Amino acid sequence: MTHVPDTAVATGPVLTVDDLGVQVGPVHLVQGVGFTIGSGERVGLIGESGSGKSLTALALMGLLPEGLRASGSIRLRGVPDDLLGTGERRLAKVRGRTVSMVFQEPMTALNPVMRVGDQVAEVMLLHGTRNSRAEAAAAAVDLLDRVRLPDPRAMARAFPHQLSGGQRQRVMLAIALANDPALLICDEPTTALDVTVQAQMLDLIGELAAERNTALLFITHDLAVVATVCQRVLVMYGGRVVETGDVYDVFTTPRHRYTEGLIAASDLSVVDERGRLRTIPGAVPNGGEFPDGCLFRTRCPAATTRCERTPEWSGAPGHGFACWHPVGEDR
Ligand SMILES: Nc1ncnc2c1ncn2[C@@H]1O[C@H](COP(=O)(O)OP(=O)(O)OP(=O)(O)O)[C@@H](O)[C@H]1O
Ligand code: SF4
Ligand SMILES: [Mg+2]
Repeated sequence: MTHVPDTAVATGPVLTVDDLGVQVGPVHLVQGVGFTIGSGERVGLIGESGSGKSLTALALMGLLPEGLRASGSIRLRGVPDDLLGTGERRLAKVRGRTVSMVFQEPMTALNPVMRVGDQVAEVMLLHGTRNSRAEAAAAAVDLLDRVRLPDPRAMARAFPHQLSGGQRQRVMLAIALANDPALLICDEPTTALDVTVQAQMLDLIGELAAERNTALLFITHDLAVVATVCQRVLVMYGGRVVETGDVYDVFTTPRHRYTEGLIAASDLSVVDERGRLRTIPGAVPNGGEFPDGCLFRTRCPAATTRCERTPEWSGAPGHGFACWHPVGEDR
């Protein structure tokens, strides 16, 4: 039997997240996050360190660290139950099959004492997308070739420590794509790699996702990466989505003051009047220490007393934001 394609109805979003929250005790680390990802759509998730990007991804995978609790709703096309509230046994069938994830540090995700080829084959056998060990082993070599590892047969026999960081990340991508998931989540997949290897990896992810019509949720600090890889972007701050829209729209005409700041800070050609690189003033407060109202107001140059109330979501259908005094509107 050949690889069974996902038999899900090919309509509607691949992923629908509604009012997602992540809490530790009474502290909300992620709150009110809602978005959809269409079939084959590539969506970037950006925001400073601590904005809740990884927790959002881990909640989607049902892999939150112990002590953290998720609320809201997460639906994947073709999976009848809401992922939140689905038991671990059923989640394990979805993870690596319908949705899979590539993490920043591949060494911790790979088994150090198992050959690379066996690790790729195992995920196929686990989900029953290949019938026999021999079939899975052959498919693994094929996948290692598709992620452009040199001499894939020899690679399949290697152990993770014999590979470079970039090669290990390619193996992780092969594992993530092994069962042709409808959705691939990448959390800073290239941050630990050097610049050239990073660019090759990004090309590869974009190319394989497009080839297989895999939807992508791509987490990064790097706005240039989002502009290269993604069609749509979600901007997070303080565990909330503060702006979303088409990448070009959001990057050329940001409406939320935080997005404006992020873009200014990422542009290395922009210096302030004293010749210093512009960055967003202040730092992201630790979880739970955000002000009331707009979470960004202690750092925002446009804040007024109105910002003491939580901003309502506004904007056009394709480009929304939560800001009382958006860029381009007089206060
Ligand atoms: N296990 C945990 N227990 C308590 N707080 C946590 C835990 N994991 C993360 N946090 C807090 O939740 C917030 C969001 O963390 P998260 O890892 O999602 O940020 P991030 O946007 O991925 O940042 P980075 O860009 O640095 O990866 C941070 O304030 C972080 O300190
Ligand atoms: S709501 Fe107010 S504080 Fe928040 S980003 Fe907009 S202007 Fe700034
Ligand atoms: Mg993170």
